Amino acid sequence: MAMRSFLLPLFFVMAIATPSGARMVEDLSPPLAKLVAKNPVANGGWLYTQNCYRCHLSYNQTRQGRGMSPESLRKIVENGKTSTQMSGFGVLAGGKLKNSEIEAILSYITTWENMSGPPAIPPELLVPPASDPAALRSVGLPRFPPVQGDASVGRVLYLTNCSRCHNPDRSGYIGRRLLPPWDGMRPDLLLKATVKSGIPGSLMPAFATDANGQLRPKDIDDVVSFLLSEPAK
Ligand code: HEC
Ligand code: HEC
Repeated sequence: MAMRSFLLPLFFVMAIATPSGARMVEDLSPPLAKLVAKNPVANGGWLYTQNCYRCHLSYNQTRQGRGMSPESLRKIVENGKTSTQMSGFGVLAGGKLKNSEIEAILSYITTWENMSGPPAIPPELLVPPASDPAALRSVGLPRFPPVQGDASVGRVLYLTNCSRCHNPDRSGYIGRRLLPPWDGMRPDLLLKATVKSGIPGSLMPAFATDANGQLRPKDIDDVVSFLLSEPAK
């Protein structure tokens, strides 16, 4: 009994460190392998897809890290985000990405943001790794903490900050309809990312305080909880 409770966490740690399903550079065709070797943005897109997709989907979909400074972005990718499922990818944090690989991921993200759209990368490099159910289980996706927010506070924040564009009943006006059904596997992450960083080139503003907006992380959690709660009839 005592031994079991000791072994179980160890198993999870090992499983997280070696997720299966990811492809290797050796699996790429020679022209693609060459491109990845000499072009950091293409390499970053490829590495992002191999390492980040299973939780954040494609960068187009969730834009995790949009609006963050390069330094804070680097810190999060190197060291992970405390008290979440995101562990560090830097070698010093027990991860498997070399500095040059982390730099490549950062240049993919910053190039994307500077252009307000995806850099031209061969689509073969952006094919997500086969989702091996065993790999997903060991990463503990079902154990993701849901967004912890107070929907009733979020409702007030919504009426103050969002309803003029999205309508008080969330049916959409200048901005889109914000009602279920939601796109994607992780509407919570998608909504959070959008509210934090806005949609560049559109009227949708960034609300995060570190993107010069006025909502603190807790406020954003509250708004997202409100959006994900069943709309009051
Ligand atoms: C096992 C799942 C998982 C993987 C794999 C993962 N992340 Fe995360 N990541 C998370 C979670 C959970 C959070 C916290 C979400 C939150 O608090 O909004 C997060 C947060 C982040 C944030 C911070 C967002 C913010 O505003 O604080 C960035 C940036 C980020 N991830 C980038 C990446 C990159 C780049 C990769 C690939 C190298 C990656 N993540 C891989 C789960 C993951
Ligand atoms: C000044 C107007 C404006 C305000 C204020 C505003 N939005 Fe938006 N929002 C938009 C527009 C316009 C879009 C669509 C942008 C596009 O895709 O071109 C949008 C898109 C979105 C999306 C993406 C929807 C999707 O299906 O991709 C979300 C989520 C969202 N807004 C949430 C919010 C929340 C939450 C607030 C308040 C904290 C808010 N918005 C405040 C104008 C606004």
